[in-house]
Amino acid sequence: MSENRYGVVLAAGKGTRMNSSLPKVCHRCFGEPMLIHVLRSLDISECINTTVVVGVGRERVESILPEGVEVVEQAKQLGTGDALSSALRKGDIPDEAIVLVTCGDIPGVRPQTYDKIYEKCEEGNDLVLLGCGMEDPSGYGRVVVDPDGMVEKIVEEKEATSDERKIDLINTGILAAKASLWRRYLPEISADNEAGEYYLTDVIELLVADKGQVQLATVEDNWEVSGINTRRRLVEFEKVGFQRRAEELLDSGVTVHDPERVKIGPWVEIEEDVEIEGDVEIIGPCSVGSGTTITGPTRIAFSDIGPQNNIIRSQITDAKTGSRVNVGPFCHVRPHTVVKDDVRLGNFVEIKKSKIESETNVAHLSYIGDASIGSNVNVGAGTITCNYDGYEKHRSVIEDDVFVGSNCELIAPVTVSAGAIIGAGTTLTDDVPPRSLAISRVEQKIHKNWVTEKWKPRKESENDHGE
Ligand code: UD1
Ligand code: CA
Repeated sequence: MSENRYGVVLAAGKGTRMNSSLPKVCHRCFGEPMLIHVLRSLDISECINTTVVVGVGRERVESILPEGVEVVEQAKQLGTGDALSSALRKGDIPDEAIVLVTCGDIPGVRPQTYDKIYEKCEEGNDLVLLGCGMEDPSGYGRVVVDPDGMVEKIVEEKEATSDERKIDLINTGILAAKASLWRRYLPEISADNEAGEYYLTDVIELLVADKGQVQLATVEDNWEVSGINTRRRLVEFEKVGFQRRAEELLDSGVTVHDPERVKIGPWVEIEEDVEIEGDVEIIGPCSVGSGTTITGPTRIAFSDIGPQNNIIRSQITDAKTGSRVNVGPFCHVRPHTVVKDDVRLGNFVEIKKSKIESETNVAHLSYIGDASIGSNVNVGAGTITCNYDGYEKHRSVIEDDVFVGSNCELIAPVTVSAGAIIGAGTTLTDDVPPRSLAISRVEQKIHKNWVTEKWKPRKESENDHGE
């Protein structure tokens, strides 16, 4: 069935009430632009083709879109009906496609909710509309139903009579119907209303007049469908989202010692018996394996953390760790890093675009960039891979069972073959054959009785930096 699921995300408006030069849908919520959450939910609900309608700030919006998402420009913001027409004019949405319309500013909608709407459409309803009961419905379009509970129309607040304004069932802005139906009715709507806009929602009244079936789906949770129009709303929404997530985790077997200090986003999967303590932020799609302990302040983004890791006060982005990995305190694991089982990354270690095999230690004060490090390697304190020559990046390769002494520099590109030893303080410029010792240190000299009366260190108090 799902090969027919198409999505159109309306995101051409400016979002005036954000008071921002950044388009509203690009504002961050749970650590990512709010539009990304909408796209991810659609993707998980097996929507095979998504079109984003852009307008104001189009370059900025396009720059955050993942690959495979289509873009259509709405030249003038003439209303939601016109926005959908722009997407449908493109022609590569087949007539039999089920086109779900949603907005870029409702980042809380879960994949299951989109799934439910697609299903109701697939069951043969002409149009499915997602409604929600709101304590305070102001600002939203109201869903008018007849005494039999059938949807009659949607009235926007601007045109609503005072009785209609009392209706607390609102249009979430999510509707689905076949492309052929949209193509048939959209040309019939007019902009003859208070706003002078083509209202997408006017399609419903036209369809009802033709005895079409409009199915109302509802969602209980009004947090899920709340639209973000102001920065205040954004931070409130986010706060409640993080709170709920922490509570869910507690119920599912994760110890979150201080729920108010954690920010765990909606796309993070955490297994049982993980323990989280202090200020911990985990955002973007991430996973954390069972038995892992994370102590804050720590930020993990777009990463897969294996089981039984111990992560202390560190930052990890776009990386993957195996089992029983120790990270930190104060370790910076940067994008495209893969670390296998039983690795130890100690304090003040920065790793970027590198692969580290099992049972290797990089325990203190190192920079490892663009490197492949084998298993059972010891990387001594202060080791630096000099990966950048001012023009290009180069790789360092350290094979299995190598011992790198403290304070070494590896001038890349360079390969240290298996079992070799690099003496402390070495500046390595050439490849090292297997099981060899490489050492580039200046020989030590002793000048006996060199220290004479002339050498008198200043007292601490006379020193400029004494304090
Ligand atoms: C819309 C609905 C309303 C619903 C509410 C839910 C209509 C006419 N009204 O009202 O029933 O309760 O959403 O949040 O559909 N957009 C474009 N091009 C345009 C106009 C808007 O792309 O020409 C986009 C906006 O960027 C936004 C979305 O469509 O993402 C909704 O537009 P907005 O102006 O916020 O509509 P509402 O007044 O909130
Ligand atoms: Ca809105």
